[in-house]
Amino acid sequence: MFEVKDKPLMVERALLVRLTFKKKDADEDISLLEELEELVRTLGIGVADMQLAHSRAMHRKYLCGTGKAAEIVEYARAHECDCIVFDNELAPSQQREWEELAGICVIDREEVILDIFAQRAQTKEATLQVELARMQYALPRMARMWGHLDREGGGGTGGRGMGEMQIEVDRRLARKRIDRIQRELEAVRTQRATRRKDREKLDMAHGAIVGYTNAGKSTLLNRLSGSDIMAKDMLFATLDTTTRSIELPDGQTLLLTDTVGFVRNLPHRLVEAFKATLEEAVLADFLIHVLDANSPEAEKFFDTTMHVLGELGAEEKPMVTVLNKVDLVEDQQVIKDLTERLREKSQIIVIGSAYKDIGMNELLTACTEILGERVQKNTYRIPQSQGQHMNLLHSEAKVTDTEYEGNDVIITAIVPVIIAGRLEQFLVT
Ligand code: GTP
Repeated sequence: MFEVKDKPLMVERALLVRLTFKKKDADEDISLLEELEELVRTLGIGVADMQLAHSRAMHRKYLCGTGKAAEIVEYARAHECDCIVFDNELAPSQQREWEELAGICVIDREEVILDIFAQRAQTKEATLQVELARMQYALPRMARMWGHLDREGGGGTGGRGMGEMQIEVDRRLARKRIDRIQRELEAVRTQRATRRKDREKLDMAHGAIVGYTNAGKSTLLNRLSGSDIMAKDMLFATLDTTTRSIELPDGQTLLLTDTVGFVRNLPHRLVEAFKATLEEAVLADFLIHVLDANSPEAEKFFDTTMHVLGELGAEEKPMVTVLNKVDLVEDQQVIKDLTERLREKSQIIVIGSAYKDIGMNELLTACTEILGERVQKNTYRIPQSQGQHMNLLHSEAKVTDTEYEGNDVIITAIVPVIIAGRLEQFLVT
């Protein structure tokens, strides 16, 4: 794990295991296991089998008891698995114990997600963020990599094993690398902050598209902006924020930013690592929350996204929820029920399909309503000699009507509040 760059996981037959400690959450457990399967397949790992294993209590060594651990290993051997993937978070020492017991690689959900993120990162910032998270994950696990040297009897000077010395060297290198990544990240973030300040100077409205992974966020941004950013049927296709500008029905320009998708039990480390990128959501004027309405888990996905937004301090933002992918939903009652259940949690709900271009005008109208107070519809009487004011209206506002009366021009326009203040003297009451 120390060589963190694009390490291919050559696993053909993984056994997926979720250890449960309460029996009553069986549905949730199964759906988490299915999600893990999707995550694992995203990495190109073959899945041999999945197992929900119940344990009465949590144990320090294997998380479950030794008897249950032996059963799982036996099962993995019988099914010729070459890796066990746990949906549970394993402490570094537990991961080591499992690998010693099983004799094959043992990883957890966090490592799977970290590896997916590593494959997807494209911009410098995303790459650095993932690398940092992976290094921090790897640091306490280095003993796992070198432990074999000690077991094979390599004795070093001063009674210390070869493995132990190697771990020390690696830890020092890793810490150095973490410092370097942090410094590089700081430089990249300063550049992004400057770009954002430039945008803020333009005083344009800004919305962030948030939601569970694969909900259709990139497709929505493509649809609304007529652009062609990557929209793929794969988890976490978007790790880097993309901002596009669109025009709302009232003429104002809206900047829309696509953000990284969320997933249940998103490793805290990754939320931390991506906080800077997700700041786009925190700083936006409002959020467009995209939900895959065709998923039976839609409401849970909604809650997960809200939970992560809560961690970022963005849960109170004005929000439009889009029940996306309605073209795939056969029973319209499903949409009605979902809308009913979400009504308490979301101010505005739009039903649509980004892919089939359904409900997109309603969505734009909803965005306009949310941003209502940013613009005014005003009529001005401006002497023709004052061309600079007419130019201002034409460049910064949306002119909807123009008439001429003697030497004056009567202009009706949708004007950003900030511009309206500069033209007050010409206002027709
Ligand atoms: P992440 O980058 O993983 O967060 O995904 P995302 O939310 O950006 O999803 P994306 O736009 O990449 O869409 C995921 C898949 O769903 C793609 O295959 C899209 O074509 C498909 N999709 C998106 N919206 C719709 C829709 O309204 N209807 C249908 N049928 N498919 C859709």
